Amino acid sequence: MSTIPGSATGDLLSGQHPSGASIAPLAEGAVVLGGFARAAAAELVAAVAAVAARAPFRHMLTPRGYRMSAAMTNCGSTGWVTDRRGYRYDARDPESGRPWPPMASSFRRLASAAAAAAGYEGFAPDSCLINRYEPGARLSLHQDKDEGCFSAPIVSVSLGLPAIFLFGGLRRSDRPRRVRLASGDVAVWGGAARLAFHGVEPLAEGEDELTGRCRINLTFRKAL
Ligand code: SIN
Ligand code: FE2
Repeated sequence: MSTIPGSATGDLLSGQHPSGASIAPLAEGAVVLGGFARAAAAELVAAVAAVAARAPFRHMLTPRGYRMSAAMTNCGSTGWVTDRRGYRYDARDPESGRPWPPMASSFRRLASAAAAAAGYEGFAPDSCLINRYEPGARLSLHQDKDEGCFSAPIVSVSLGLPAIFLFGGLRRSDRPRRVRLASGDVAVWGGAARLAFHGVEPLAEGEDELTGRCRINLTFRKAL
């Protein structure tokens, strides 16, 4: 186990977490935990397949009627959805009318441990948005602001093909940092960065041994 230079707790400074994950600051309140989810990645991907068997990935429509290039589904007590009526959380999958699949305990544990490693103790997510990007799919700059709670952080887990993550400031016009996220990396943002604009550049072509020709992202939130 290594100690973290200059910090008793090590929360938000660069260094190494006892798990072996590297901690790289993104902004005040935001870090990337390099490789934090690598050991759990195969289990997480299997849990995603189980969710998708009950609540299939679909390309949602934005309120303006554009089809999102990333396919999405959810698990947990509520799920993020978008359609012509707007962005919102819904306890039910609008495609089936049934509740979203429950959040696997492996998901919950990982999200809570990652939040704690980033300095946010006691994170208890009630929602997990699952995005699937195929080559060319992207996510334009946005804020996560449909949640009822901004005091909890966002925990974002990357699986499969690498992506360039964009992480900006509190204004859309703030120039974002470009960060490469590989399979198993976990980005956490909260506090002063909770409403930071972020997005994903078009995914490059590739093949991953775990996910095949795609990237999967899990976004854990306290929405209710
Ligand atoms: C999101 O902001 O919903 C997902 C970000 C990502 O895919 O890394
Ligand atoms: Fe987001």
